[in-house]
Amino acid sequence: MVDRNGWGRDRPVLTGSPHSPPSSFVEQANVTDPGIYETFEEQWPECWERAADLLSWDRPYETVLEDDDAPFYRWFSDGSLNASANCLDRHLEAGRKTHTAIRWEGKHGERETYTYRDLYVAVNEFAAALRDLGVEEDDVVTIYLPMIPELPIAMLACARIGAPHSVVFAGLSADALATRMDAADSEFLLTCDGYYRRGDAFNQKSKADNAQLKLDQDVRTVVVDRLGDDLPHVLGDDEHDYHDLLETFGGETVDPVPRDAEDMLFLMYTSGTTGEPKGVVHTTGGYLAHAAWTTHAVLDVKPEDTYWCAADIGWITGHSYIVYGPLALGTTTVMYEGTPDYPDRDRLWEIVDRNAVDIFYTAPTAVRAFMKWGAKYPERHDLSSLRLLGTVGEPISPRPWQWYYEHIGDERCPVVDTWWQTETGAVTISTLPGIDEMKPGAAGPGLPGTDARIVDDDGIEVDPGESGYLTLARPWPGMARTLYDGDERFRTEYWDRFSDPDDDEWRYFSGDAARVDEDGYITVLGRVDDVINVAGRRLSTTEIESAVTDVGGVAEAAVVGRSSETNGTDVCVYVSTESGYDDDGAVREAIVDSIEASIGAIARPTTVLFTPELPKTRSGKIMRRLLEDVANGEELGDTSALRNPEIIGEIQAEIHDR
Ligand code: WTA
Repeated sequence: MVDRNGWGRDRPVLTGSPHSPPSSFVEQANVTDPGIYETFEEQWPECWERAADLLSWDRPYETVLEDDDAPFYRWFSDGSLNASANCLDRHLEAGRKTHTAIRWEGKHGERETYTYRDLYVAVNEFAAALRDLGVEEDDVVTIYLPMIPELPIAMLACARIGAPHSVVFAGLSADALATRMDAADSEFLLTCDGYYRRGDAFNQKSKADNAQLKLDQDVRTVVVDRLGDDLPHVLGDDEHDYHDLLETFGGETVDPVPRDAEDMLFLMYTSGTTGEPKGVVHTTGGYLAHAAWTTHAVLDVKPEDTYWCAADIGWITGHSYIVYGPLALGTTTVMYEGTPDYPDRDRLWEIVDRNAVDIFYTAPTAVRAFMKWGAKYPERHDLSSLRLLGTVGEPISPRPWQWYYEHIGDERCPVVDTWWQTETGAVTISTLPGIDEMKPGAAGPGLPGTDARIVDDDGIEVDPGESGYLTLARPWPGMARTLYDGDERFRTEYWDRFSDPDDDEWRYFSGDAARVDEDGYITVLGRVDDVINVAGRRLSTTEIESAVTDVGGVAEAAVVGRSSETNGTDVCVYVSTESGYDDDGAVREAIVDSIEASIGAIARPTTVLFTPELPKTRSGKIMRRLLEDVANGEELGDTSALRNPEIIGEIQAEIHDR
């Protein structure tokens, strides 16, 4: 059995009754041959050429997989290509220049449409500007922008000149930005003056300025003027206005730099088990092939579709499924700046209706909110254009799944529950919507060509129905190649635990717990490490704890996940204070402020509980697992091994009403 350590708060204990894919969908699906599982099995690893064939290569590859230096696998390694050319130039060459690439919906109802030609022009101009600023191949460019078109434009401009981008979610704090720029030695930053959060103008530039104060390196900054007169700003030395640059380089084109398949396309920082975020490295060939393939095979996207992934490009989901996957396929991708409930709770459905969106992909957290708000909001709109629905980022339990299927999809659209991670690059476990039955609550089988296994502590596969660790026993093209912080950390974080290098047996450990049914369907239960998943966003409890213990007066802290109807999991903080400090409101406020300053508002705790001491083992280790059970009102096991068992009762009484 798995050593339970804070996973599975939203775990669907049962899966709902299965649904067959609707025949109207199957008739038109991109992938319909059930034999694909077997074919991929027989032809592995060459089967992945199906993915690579969706791309245009400058130099065709001959080798599909190199595995002699496992776990540092190389895919399509003797080929070369450019990601920006794959997302733009080739669609123009195919006569699709007037086709819409990006349909942008602003927070206040503004709309912008970029055809493939428009996007090509903007990307080329900004690529020329980046070059002029001194960006060279392999320089890391940090992008700290909200959901505005300049964000994907900048990503593709970086890709065009072979400069890896590192996109930092706009809601993260100045500290978080500084940590990431420092770790990546990044000397170039693209940000904006500010953006609208709900109704208010919010200052992003001041966060970027504060981050730079913490950096040793000199940084050249480009600023997008998003707010105009709503938030005037002044540019300092080494700061450039984005739109001035585009004007200066108006009409210029930049030849896409051929990149080796294994050259880095981007870096994406994500939370790990320690306080330091991990810089996950994705490469050009394998990543793009896998992103494009899954957009085609799992999300069933076709070039003539209007496709909407309602995520933020600041996370991996937006990279793979707002930008690279859909643009590689030449479809229309919708990009939405706002929130689902502003100005009203029917905002998303209004956008689906007006744009005749074919495919809609979102997080279970959003689905739970829709369900809570009720069917009257979607009912105000015509959603008959929808053909497929998807979820990503957290487990979805059968009830919200069913609600989504009925009230958004009208029982006409398959729902794909897609499991993957920043590190896997693209979807790894999911049903294929034109082939597989859907079981609400279970993500599905591993994709053709993958080998997902649920194992116990010794790495032995568990029986169907039992829970264990989710591992991947075969490499896949979109996999992270290493961590920017070093190969060693890559091995220890993901490979050491279940691999047997002496036998050349390599198992990727996802950090998730899961269960597999007789039919091979996998139900993902949640994280087993110190990562919590708050509204589909990965946060490290260690990182939050260190923000809490930074506060004057705090002696010790433990941060755990507390199950929540809306967010799946909320942040719950336990603190003990030094003598002279108590729960006086000021310390509480300082704790919340410190978390927001070091990570961002997304890590804001819903519970901060003061206790004279934290429960500890005799060796002095804080019992976080027990604290998590307490937070979730679960039955506690044996607490006799604690040094201070009496504290548990006190904490239970305190937390009960919160
Ligand atoms: C969780 C997001 C259950 C999981 C793409 C994983 C899921 C983490 C699912 C990665 C799903 C993602 N069912 N859990 N369909 N999809 N997760 O890196 O715990 O932000 O390890 O990537 O989200 O989060 P990340």
